[in-house]
Amino acid sequence: VPGAEKVSERKDNLKHIAIILDGNGRWAEKRGLSRSEGHKEGAHNLDRMLEYFLTLNIPYISLYAFSTENWKRPVAEISGIWKLLNHFFKVRLDHCVKNGIHIKVSGDLSKLPKLTQSAIRIASAKTGKSKARLTANFCINYGSRNEILHAAGEIVNERISLFKNGKLSDAVKPVNEEELSSHLYTSPLPDVDLMIRPGGESRISNFLLWQSAYAEIYVTPVLWPDFNEKELDKAIRWYKKRDRRFGGLSDTV
Ligand code: FPP
Repeated sequence: VPGAEKVSERKDNLKHIAIILDGNGRWAEKRGLSRSEGHKEGAHNLDRMLEYFLTLNIPYISLYAFSTENWKRPVAEISGIWKLLNHFFKVRLDHCVKNGIHIKVSGDLSKLPKLTQSAIRIASAKTGKSKARLTANFCINYGSRNEILHAAGEIVNERISLFKNGKLSDAVKPVNEEELSSHLYTSPLPDVDLMIRPGGESRISNFLLWQSAYAEIYVTPVLWPDFNEKELDKAIRWYKKRDRRFGGLSDTV
């Protein structure tokens, strides 16, 4: 692809983009359509944007498709989202396999409809990690606080079994960042570099709190169904101008 940089050559070190897919409801309301029509258009846009991501050599994207708080929405809207996800995981599967898109899903999947759970299992198994050009991490029934609690629970259980096996010094060793990260749903994805929030709200909404500790956050009023290739270029250009110091000082100081 002309102009595309290989990841290894990317000067901006942009490896992981996270997007909050916000604004579908407003997009639909503006047109006198139902909110579900807005989610449908949001899903179409994701199809289009996945193609574009492939050309950019960005290896990881995370997409906030359904939060742990979204259960508060009307049942019809929620079941519309499951339908779209089922459709995506089934109908786009071959395309993902052919194009090297690995489907990963992060979140508490046990509460999802059985059909969606099996569509996810098949999609992530068939789109192998090894030759992936792009990992698309769908965050579904995802919330960062839930994720961190889940990770802490797993670590506690591991420590208990170490203790029971008489490995006392391992059982009481302090938990470090690497260990906690490895228990997050998103593991082994790297930290988020750029978080994009279409729809104009300046909130993180319980999305990838741990992983975005040093992410640059780009907010745009453009609604997700209208967030196209040009808008993504704009966000990346903005990101490239940021001076990421990670708590240190800039090179020019
Ligand atoms: C937020 O917009 C969006 C959601 C809660 C759902 C996002 C889901 C999709 C894009 C479809 C899922 C399917 C695939 C294939 C990813 P909102 O409803 O809060 O919009 P509003 O703020 O304008 O009301």
